[in-house]
Amino acid sequence: MNIQIINGPNLNLLGVREKSIYGSADFESYLAQLQKHFTNITINYYQSNVEGEIINKLHEVGFTCDGIVLNAGAYTHTSVAIADAIAAIKTPTIEVHISNVYKREEFRHHSMLAASCKGVIAGFGMHSYRLAIESLLLKD
Ligand code: DQA
Repeated sequence: MNIQIINGPNLNLLGVREKSIYGSADFESYLAQLQKHFTNITINYYQSNVEGEIINKLHEVGFTCDGIVLNAGAYTHTSVAIADAIAAIKTPTIEVHISNVYKREEFRHHSMLAASCKGVIAGFGMHSYRLAIESLLLKD
């Protein structure tokens, strides 16, 4: 099984950025733990701060890999283009957030992407990524 994690804008600064919200671990360390946890799964990781690059990645992997775990960061709340890309591809996509966006500012309560995704996981810190992978392993 092949899973692609895609992190959007500012998530390259995990471990540095607003630690009280996002924690103090950087994503690369967490990824190593994830890979140890899911020994039978190939987990690929991509991060970009650029909307079009996220779309290109969705197109590139979205017809071949088995699942996509997408934290589109702030583009979650704004991007019709990423929503269209998720709808256009074949691979199921799970929307993920580290923070509980519903406890935060109102503009974070709405997702442009959720309706195109298989499901949404938010608020479990870095564990949100593990839960998203678990959800992709569930039998329909
Ligand atoms: C986030 C929540 C978004 O509202 C925010 O813009 C982010 C991170 C999260 O993982 O909690 O950049 O997606």
